[in-house]
Amino acid sequence: MSASLYEDLKREYAEKTPKSAAHYEAARRVIPGGESRILVTYAPYAITVTRGAGCKVFDLDGNEYVDYINNYMSLIHGHAFPPIAEALKTQLDKGTVYAAPTLPQYDLAKILTERIPAIERIKFCNSGTEAVMYAIRAARAHNRKKYVIRIDGGYNGTCDFAAINMAIDLRRAPGSLPARVLEPGVPEELAQLVIPVAFNDPAQMEAALKQHRGEVSAIVMEPMLGSAGFIPPKPGYLQAVRALADQYGALLIFDEIVSYRLGEGGLAALEGVEPDLMTLGKIVGGGLPIGAYGGREDIMKCFLPAHDAMLSASGTFSGNPMSMTAGATALRHYRKPETDRLNRLGDRLRQGLRQAAKKADVPVVFTGSGSFIGYHFTRKEQVENATDSMKTLAEQMPIYDCVHMAALVRGYYLMKKGRFILSTPMDEALVDQTVRDFAEIFALVKPLCAALPDERG
Ligand SMILES: Cc1ncc(COP(=O)(O)O)c(C=O)c1O
Repeated sequence: MSASLYEDLKREYAEKTPKSAAHYEAARRVIPGGESRILVTYAPYAITVTRGAGCKVFDLDGNEYVDYINNYMSLIHGHAFPPIAEALKTQLDKGTVYAAPTLPQYDLAKILTERIPAIERIKFCNSGTEAVMYAIRAARAHNRKKYVIRIDGGYNGTCDFAAINMAIDLRRAPGSLPARVLEPGVPEELAQLVIPVAFNDPAQMEAALKQHRGEVSAIVMEPMLGSAGFIPPKPGYLQAVRALADQYGALLIFDEIVSYRLGEGGLAALEGVEPDLMTLGKIVGGGLPIGAYGGREDIMKCFLPAHDAMLSASGTFSGNPMSMTAGATALRHYRKPETDRLNRLGDRLRQGLRQAAKKADVPVVFTGSGSFIGYHFTRKEQVENATDSMKTLAEQMPIYDCVHMAALVRGYYLMKKGRFILSTPMDEALVDQTVRDFAEIFALVKPLCAALPDERG
């Protein structure tokens, strides 16, 4: 059944996208897999996007899709947002980058330090990966400790630190401390300095801090697990982690590269928890490459050029005026009323999808917060950490594949692993139409769900 539904959907997809298929064949002769980013590809081939406008993208064959990926959470205003396009044209005429301090960099720094209580001082770089790397280096330089705790299955970019337990051991017994899982190429010696713990489990956090008492420099974590399934923190979890960090003398670093869009001060401010350092990226670049790291003034001063604990942070394009201009413009158009509207729109979509799945009698757990929605085909009652979400994904891939293909042929561009990310050009009518279309998709995959194991517990 699964094979034939998927084959039928793939056939429909192929009929709709012959030019993307041809482009894929040409591109893979010069780029391995036809694309630099592993995540944006999928079988049999990805659509080739030629243009984006508002919440839509258009492919080589002229098909249009509602874009629920938004370049992996980085486009808060969708595509070609006129105020950003205008601001960039003006900056373009003045040059794209100079080796000097600039006004746009100061502008974006002011916006972020004013909006985010946890950030007293901030610096910019070119990606979230770099931001995480600098934040960890700052923590270690500040307290001269070496171990770093990170969340099992969490995503903090691609530096060596973040590659440890990015993939997880799915056979691990629940409750036990996760063993280290290394990407090939990450030295064992380096991995020994990273301690993975499960999300939403303060007891594991404490066990890790105790195990290396006095030697943990920082806890690095997303306050809402993003890539691993849009899994929000349980009530009290972040507060417990903050207290444990203080008790054991570790710094707390929140990676808000994804979650920042939930509120003007980030998820940290919404939860009333102040980290010592925070990393940002994605939407704060307004659609251009960016990373940012900031926090307590006494920690960030390790980046002062004249300070004796000086760390050199540089980068040819760090703080470039194009990214700074796009970011500042994006954020000026994303104040509290708009943040709240988008979060409510996300709640409406999550609720609508939940009802549609229930009506179709398909077991799905919906996760997320505000404008982030994750769906997980499982009979579990909750998805609360990366093991829950990744195990479901790995075991039920044929269902996710069918939903993804069925969505594509209906004009929805979304991640295969089951996520919706909203953007400000979206409105209630669009969200309600999405729910109607997904009601059909859930009905389509219902027969595949019959074999889902009963994991209620
Ligand atoms: C939470 C989190 N941290 C860091 C990163 C890395 O950011 P970048 O892709 O800009 O290097 C990402 C990217 O998806 C992310 O989701």
